[in-house]
Amino acid sequence: MKDAKAIRQAAEIIQQGGVVAFPTETVYGLGADAYNPLAVARIFEVKRRPYFDPLIVHIASPAHLRKLVKDIPSSARKLTEKLWPGPLTVVLFKEEHIPDIVTAGLLTVALRMPDHPMALSLIKESKCPIAAPSANPFGYLSPTTAEHVREQLADQVDLVLDGGPCPVGVESTIVSFSENKPRLLRPGGVSLEEIESIIGKVEIGPIEDSPVAPGMLPRHYAPRTPIVLDWNEKNPDFYKDKNIGLLAFQEPKNILKFHSVEVLSKKGDMREAAANLFSAIRRLDGLNLDLIVAEPIPEIGLGRAIMDRLRRASHFLNFPPLAGGDEGEGKLL
Ligand code: TXA
Ligand code: MG
Repeated sequence: MKDAKAIRQAAEIIQQGGVVAFPTETVYGLGADAYNPLAVARIFEVKRRPYFDPLIVHIASPAHLRKLVKDIPSSARKLTEKLWPGPLTVVLFKEEHIPDIVTAGLLTVALRMPDHPMALSLIKESKCPIAAPSANPFGYLSPTTAEHVREQLADQVDLVLDGGPCPVGVESTIVSFSENKPRLLRPGGVSLEEIESIIGKVEIGPIEDSPVAPGMLPRHYAPRTPIVLDWNEKNPDFYKDKNIGLLAFQEPKNILKFHSVEVLSKKGDMREAAANLFSAIRRLDGLNLDLIVAEPIPEIGLGRAIMDRLRRASHFLNFPPLAGGDEGEGKLL
């Protein structure tokens, strides 16, 4: 009852051109009416996100796909039929009526039907597709609880819908159908193995000649504390006298003296590890550590998405910070 009222209020805000944070099964999104360019512009302002980074459009039924894209290749149809609602985003050639600000001027649009009752009700009640990136300041970790959103963006959004923790915990898998062959642009909540079992082999990696998509920048999803991934091989002296946190997959092997330890999944379950990932990093990030060392995870199934996020978060040592320093990406606006 309380939820229904909040959803109705959120839908009214969306219809009036406002911006609402809402839960999905992957991470929280920051949504606006995809047909309202001014409302969508506010998303970019709130996130301090560069305008060259296109948004995902969220729909409440696979039938809505037809109105938004020119053509649905049979492999795209197969995937969406099998995996929607769910953590899969498809990139297809867009219809002209989708505003350019949503797609950063690209001829394609990214679409997904989230598997979350609140998200689906919100889209239905708003009576429009909802353009939404993850509800975090640009370059920072995606939020997996309403609390995360409130901590970082509360005063700038019109409403935060609270649906509890996101069950999947990493963003959707993005597959593009803008070339002859399907292409995995971002590993995510549905594994590559599952996708290939439905449509056969897919290409992997960014589309050549396409504008940079910051979700694919080497440094993204970064906490404030430096993260290192390849710590086992590093000189142990380097770690002496440092305040170190460990992000362990399972029970940690006690090699260094850690100030704090986060275990992603005691039983080594990838799903549980993905669901805990961003919250665990946030907790470590809040401890004023000198360093977070992260244990590598086998790159199978969801492990691929987890390692992708960890690599992009480990800007220290592996990647120099982008121009403008920490959180400086916002200056690209
Ligand atoms: O799970 C998710 O996908 C979450 C929830 C809220 O749905 N959303 C999310 O959105 O992760 P965002 O904006 O943080 O990441 C979307 C990614 C970006 O890397 C963007 O560049 C890419 O999708 N993208 C969007 N439209 C695209 C297009 N037409 N072609 C290629 N990449 C696109
Ligand atoms: Mg994001």
